[in-house]
Amino acid sequence: MSEGVVDRNRVVIFDTTLRDGEQSPGATLNIEEKIEIAKQLAKLGVDVIEAGFPISSQGDFEAVQRIAREVHGPVVAGLARAIVVDVDRAWEALKDAEKPRIHVFISTSDVHLKHLFKLTREEALQRAKEMVARAKSYCEDIEFSAQDATRSDLDYVCQMIEAVIEVGATTVNLPDTVGYTTPDEYERMISTVLSKVKNIDKAIISVHCHNDLGMAVANSLTALRAGARQVECTINGIGERAGNASLEEIVMALETRKDFFGLHTRANPAELLRTSRMVSSFTGIPVQPNKAIVGSNAFAHESGIHQDGMLKEKRTYEIMDAETVGAGETNLVLGKHSGRHAFRKHLSKLGYELGDEELNRIFFEFKQLCDKKKVVSDRDIETLIMDRVQSESDAAYRIEQVTVMTGNKMEPNATVKLIASDGSIVTEATVGDGPVDAVCKAISKLSGIQAELIEFNIAAITAGLDAQAEASIKLRFKGRVVTGRGSDTDIIVAAAKAYLHAVNKFIEMGTFEDETNADPYRRDEYGPLAGISRAFDR
Ligand code: KIV
Ligand code: ZN
Repeated sequence: MSEGVVDRNRVVIFDTTLRDGEQSPGATLNIEEKIEIAKQLAKLGVDVIEAGFPISSQGDFEAVQRIAREVHGPVVAGLARAIVVDVDRAWEALKDAEKPRIHVFISTSDVHLKHLFKLTREEALQRAKEMVARAKSYCEDIEFSAQDATRSDLDYVCQMIEAVIEVGATTVNLPDTVGYTTPDEYERMISTVLSKVKNIDKAIISVHCHNDLGMAVANSLTALRAGARQVECTINGIGERAGNASLEEIVMALETRKDFFGLHTRANPAELLRTSRMVSSFTGIPVQPNKAIVGSNAFAHESGIHQDGMLKEKRTYEIMDAETVGAGETNLVLGKHSGRHAFRKHLSKLGYELGDEELNRIFFEFKQLCDKKKVVSDRDIETLIMDRVQSESDAAYRIEQVTVMTGNKMEPNATVKLIASDGSIVTEATVGDGPVDAVCKAISKLSGIQAELIEFNIAAITAGLDAQAEASIKLRFKGRVVTGRGSDTDIIVAAAKAYLHAVNKFIEMGTFEDETNADPYRRDEYGPLAGISRAFDR
């Protein structure tokens, strides 16, 4: 069995935010952001971090490699299709990890085999066996996924599972790739695999559910009751299409309803909210207010009757304490007269241990914020820390200065000064339909990225007229979509930061001139679905 799981009631939490989650439209993360999220996932206590799909791009390869080298505690997994180049590339990225895992997948449904892979069932079975054996020659911990398992012939799935366990798979995953199954049906599938696959005691059964019909969490939990012991999920439920099963909902369902499930995880719920905010912030994908566990209304009581009940006895309307998931933040008792030492101690209480240099920078920014805001909250501090990760990555441009002139009787105009990565300063002045438009136009001109704006949101992070604003922006450029975020006490500056964050991501992705000569490892060419038959022909 994988990773010494001896406790039969322990559920292995496999987080795929950085792989399946990053497949959400526009959720591109840069390497520094991925590493920061991976470190936070380790703090949260997940067992496995799926760090990426190393063959899909040079960026993914480097991210997996750095997470494998720099993040300690959890198993670090890399995804590979059942082809030689993928498995070898995954191992190359993972080989320095404390606990590496190669995750090999192939489809088992006829619709995928016929249209995507152009393989017969027998050929797919043979290929899966060969590639799991190849992966096993590199490392002990091997996961195999039967993609689209829930729309496959169950006898064939059982045959495939038995064959890959025979050659060394230690975890076998039965994904509901298109979010099609139902709790009862999925439960039957797990029970059948448990009873029919002769060597199933040599592996852990894993489940991986997508949320197309809104049943991903329910399906995952039912499968755990039926005997699966690994669950694959993402923070905030982000992922392809309607997303994946949400990690925070699964962890809290198992925790809050221990009486019913009789299962436990190693996750520390107190880190859930912080992780959720970090992922939302870095991906630019906001969390809906009514989202279970981590939404801003998840613990809010509006109606008089509910409020009355809460005042009399919390348990009348609350099944979990907000503090359990890391909410209930305090307002900082520090202010502009506080010293560095007290600030460091407070950050440590919040779970952030910074090196001296980093601390000095955040401390300086904290002091600046104290001049602008009466009350600096923990949320404000977290925002400063998120911004640090963003600005410390090798961004092509950073904001030096934003000046706008606007009003109801004039054409808004903006002057933007950016610092390029080589230290040079570039300046542009433009007019626009509004101040945000003018600022974004100036950044477009300076960077040469004339992107189309698809979405723009701005919200206050905390209460009060002096609150910091967080802007998130979605841009499309030459067929690709990315999101960006930025925060500031000035909403125009927040918007400028968000726009530049997205623009920097486009620049980091590299050249767009000739899509046909694109990097052969690019995700959309080598993704889990696209171009798969061509890749198999090699
Ligand atoms: O949804 C899916 O089937 C996947 C596999 C690659 C595990 O993400
Ligand atoms: Zn998936």
